Amino acid sequence: MENQSKDRGSFSKLGFILAAAGSSIGLGNLWKFPYLTGSNGGGVFVIVYLVIIATIGFTCMLGEMAIGKYTKLNPIGAYGKIAEKWKFVGVLGVLVPFLIVTYYNIIGGWIMKYIVESLLGHLPAIAGDSANFFTAHITASTSPIVYTLIFVIINAVIIQAGVNEGIERASKILMPLLFVLLLIVAFRSVTLPGAVEGIKFYLQPDFSKLSFNTVTAALGQCFFSLSLGMGAMITYGSYLPDNSHIEQDAVLVPLLDTFAALLAGFAILPAVFAFGFEPSAGPGLIFITLPAVFDAMPFGTLWATVFFFLVLFAAITSSVSLVENPTAWLIDSYGMDRKKAAWIVCIVAFLIAIPESLSMGVWSGITFPPMGLNIFDEIGYIAESLLMPAAGFFMCIVIGWVWGIDNFAKAVTNNGEYEFKSKKYFEIMVKYVAPAAIFFIWLNSSGILSIFS
Ligand code: PHE
Repeated sequence: MENQSKDRGSFSKLGFILAAAGSSIGLGNLWKFPYLTGSNGGGVFVIVYLVIIATIGFTCMLGEMAIGKYTKLNPIGAYGKIAEKWKFVGVLGVLVPFLIVTYYNIIGGWIMKYIVESLLGHLPAIAGDSANFFTAHITASTSPIVYTLIFVIINAVIIQAGVNEGIERASKILMPLLFVLLLIVAFRSVTLPGAVEGIKFYLQPDFSKLSFNTVTAALGQCFFSLSLGMGAMITYGSYLPDNSHIEQDAVLVPLLDTFAALLAGFAILPAVFAFGFEPSAGPGLIFITLPAVFDAMPFGTLWATVFFFLVLFAAITSSVSLVENPTAWLIDSYGMDRKKAAWIVCIVAFLIAIPESLSMGVWSGITFPPMGLNIFDEIGYIAESLLMPAAGFFMCIVIGWVWGIDNFAKAVTNNGEYEFKSKKYFEIMVKYVAPAAIFFIWLNSSGILSIFS
């Protein structure tokens, strides 16, 4: 513990909110939310998602921030301090973000490819062409890996500069700019001829499309998008001074994150319908749709370039927080200096990204039982569907039943310095609602329930 303050730095209040929002607003909002909405029935997915954010999302957000603020340690050290026997939950908090960062880098690389191609004016706007263009890129053997490497290097450089210099400064400028651009693109999308169908699809829930899979997808997305269940917010919380009002932050950060996701939906889904694309196209949806939206704007090439740039920055503020977790752990546990720790994490993550990227092309034949997923999807499945909800579940158990609500409240309020307004709500959520819901959904997504149906 002597190491805890060495090289750790600390956040200002605004810096924390921006960095936490920067971590949560990323590819999860801009890339994943629109395509999940598109493939899970539209409006009904949005409703389920909002309910989950307000219940489980808020609970886990406040939980993680409080654990971090109180312990001032990385996830493993933090769990060791509040509940020694539950240290393994913290191990997930280092392992899961590391797994995610391996493929997050690849998608970051796809974004970089689109920046370059839009600069060159090469992005095809027509349905079939843009789908082929996207597939051709992600299945290639070298180019996506080279772009991944560039993305990884940018991350390592920012991380080694430390929390104040790197993350905080970048977040302050780029996140507000991203919102402005999202608003402009969303405005263009909803005013396209034929966009009305898409707006209806997005906003009018069709409850006949509600299925267990909708709920599973929404829960996974809540964790992924809010950067929960992997200790990212524990690590950021650990840089907070004791007198910070994290209860407000735990509302504000999910609000900003959800606002960004909803805007991204407005930017993509109306355009999908206006141009006759397929809403259930999956991970390629934004890459296929956005070029057509930009094509319908004056100075489209310019907009496209600027927009993909901002998506890239949103991705970077998220991926640095993914890298930050294992990095902070190496600093705290091994007394390593920040620079060395950051580079080790980034290089190993890149090496794992190579087979992942190839698994979308030449190595697509290599699959894993029981679901026959390729390497890329398998690692995503292990991280997001199995480990992440498990970490969220155990965190609720630790807070609700081991560390205890009273200790938790002391951590939130800095020993009663101010009122914990949502204490009752939080208590019911963390002890009963959240763990039960996560457990049930986890059973479903792990495929165990399918045995009974
Ligand atoms: N929340 C980020 C996004 O939406 C991804 C992320 C997950 C970042 C977990 C950090 C930790 O893109």
